[in-house]
Amino acid sequence: MRIDKLLSDMGLATRSEARAACKAGQITVDGVPVKDSSSHVDPGKRRIVFRGREISYRKYTYVMLNKPEGYVSATEDSKLPVVTELLDGELRRMELFPVGRLDRDTTGLMILTNNGPLAHRVLSPKHHVPKVYRFTAAEPMADGVEEHFRDGVTLADGYECKSALIELDPDRMGGFITLTEGKYHQIKRMVASTHNRVVTLERITFGGIELDTGLARGEYRMLTPEEIALLEKQN
Ligand code: URA
Repeated sequence: MRIDKLLSDMGLATRSEARAACKAGQITVDGVPVKDSSSHVDPGKRRIVFRGREISYRKYTYVMLNKPEGYVSATEDSKLPVVTELLDGELRRMELFPVGRLDRDTTGLMILTNNGPLAHRVLSPKHHVPKVYRFTAAEPMADGVEEHFRDGVTLADGYECKSALIELDPDRMGGFITLTEGKYHQIKRMVASTHNRVVTLERITFGGIELDTGLARGEYRMLTPEEIALLEKQN
């Protein structure tokens, strides 16, 4: 594969950065500087070093998106915009899909990948991947909500939620909720069970991966190797 594609797939450099890095002698293949970023290399067979760091090529791609409101967590929809439309052409061709769903009006951390088995694993109810949400409510949250969430809320349809952690702001108009499962409209329904209503909802962590505060809504970046390792070790 092309050197510039390899680097951009891995989120290490854009194609133009790769071109400049090659010109500056910052990329070597088996110790030999590569001057042309369009040269081909077999990452399985060659030792590629970029800016002093050896690269181990990954088969899969992982993107962190700061989801804006108004986008459906899907790869296609007959009427509404979908999160994958926010990706540029090259990433779109990789057929990434969102790992789990956020409601259309929920914002924040969304991971997209083309690693189906990993997505399946982290979403499986057998794995209890923690997710933290920042929310605001229409009214101050009721007294005792911490215990109510901790003991497992029973939703209007009879579903018994797993224990959840809620940490309230001093004015009780919002705070943080940690879930280890992901049922449809779960937080909205849990808050509704206290005769209150969610006004805004943003996911800020997923399995220990934190939303990058440098990303504006609608922006994205590749996951770092450390973040990918966090995803891979979820159990
Ligand atoms: N809970 C909700 O109600 N909505 C989301 O998007 C995520 C969690």
